[in-house]
Amino acid sequence: MVNVTLAPRSPRKRVAVVMGTRPEAIKMAPVVHALRRHPDLFQTLVVATAQHRQMLDQVMAIFRIAPDVDLDLMQPDQSLSELAARVLKTMDATLRDLQPDLLLVQGDTTTVLATALAAFHLGVPVGHVEAGLRSHDLRNPFPEEMNRRLTSVLTAVHLAPTPLAAEELKQERIDPSRIVVTGNTVVDALHELLREPFDIDATPLAGLPLDRGRLLVVTSHRRESWGRDLENTCLALRDLVGRFADLQVVYPVHLNPNVRRTVIEMLGDAGRIHLTEPLDYFTFVNLMRRSHLILTDSGGVQEEAPTLGKPLLVLRKLTERPEAFQAGLSRVVGNSRETIVAEASRLLEDPHAYRSMVSAANPFGDGRASERIVLALGRWAASQTPLLTADEEFRPAAA
Ligand code: UD1
Ligand code: UDP
Repeated sequence: MVNVTLAPRSPRKRVAVVMGTRPEAIKMAPVVHALRRHPDLFQTLVVATAQHRQMLDQVMAIFRIAPDVDLDLMQPDQSLSELAARVLKTMDATLRDLQPDLLLVQGDTTTVLATALAAFHLGVPVGHVEAGLRSHDLRNPFPEEMNRRLTSVLTAVHLAPTPLAAEELKQERIDPSRIVVTGNTVVDALHELLREPFDIDATPLAGLPLDRGRLLVVTSHRRESWGRDLENTCLALRDLVGRFADLQVVYPVHLNPNVRRTVIEMLGDAGRIHLTEPLDYFTFVNLMRRSHLILTDSGGVQEEAPTLGKPLLVLRKLTERPEAFQAGLSRVVGNSRETIVAEASRLLEDPHAYRSMVSAANPFGDGRASERIVLALGRWAASQTPLLTADEEFRPAAA
């Protein structure tokens, strides 16, 4: 039994917002805040699977959100199937208790797919935030491409971040009247935090010599990169600090033990490469803001770098977020040591190449995605169509 006070249902709709990992919490936080600005329309309950424990708690603290239900499912070095089974089973019981009118999930994690399946089994409609991203390679990123494709099959309201994502869903013959283009909520989250004053001395970055040269921020954690590809990235970083004497690298290392083993072994003793624990989101955003260049295989960071006007090299073979490279704001460099070094060197040496990757136009959002999501969900709850008019949808400005 969950310990939550359930408000009388009518006319309010009860929405269960589910989050399991760091990026889900970052991207759902503005949606929770926006839903809670309309208590007349929605009773909003936050359900944490805690697929991540520390990294989820870090985000929830920053956005001052406490879970109404915390399933506390993380186990060390959990396997995908064990975790999926735990989410499916506990979510079944949770949804029976909460009886939501709508369940909201975000993105492409194991939490998302297993939760959407549990909801489907119980006839609870699913709203999918950040719907429609596609790499068109089922094993890349693994298992996220599979997670989001299957989740789309189980979804009633598809909240696509960009026109391209909406188009991908239409190509899959999903009813267009159930697809809306909202912008990505990560831009809302960023805007919210960028308004607050930042004091670096109050963070784990205090004492790092970040103003002594150009700052390169790195994150890399993807499952398909574990082993050789991640080793190549580490070797490339060593090459880059060897080549550029003014370069300072900060790499907050993900808590997954399979990532930590490689990164700490290969970079733990490297001068001017500063490994940190995962940084809270506020600190990380401000770190990116001070950076000269960002290297990442993260999904969210690919959307944030253009929002902050920072050139980005994507440490993947392909991406489900092509909007940035289509706009000339990022390059997908893969995982070869030589290519990473060559592409980063070009941007560090050639001011024209660097400037060509900086633009104020953001293809991912305008900071109003959560507002649009709440509007669309209100109309969906009232059986109104369209969920958003063409004028209300997010449309990226021309670069
Ligand atoms: C998961 C998501 C991935 C997302 C990433 C964001 C899946 C399959 N993968 O990958 O899509 O990009 O989160 O970071 O859903 N751990 C901790 N503390 C934490 C978090 C993780 O100790 O706060 C360790 C645990 O040993 C845990 C392991 O990392 O078992 C793996 O976590 P898991 O969520 O299964 O996978 P990620 O690789 O983090
Ligand atoms: N992030 C953070 N602290 C860090 C590293 C990343 O808050 O030390 C944020 C980052 O800004 C982005 C999100 O975490 O919004 C991305 O999470 P992650 O890379 O774990 O997952 P992905 O986006 O690849 O699914």
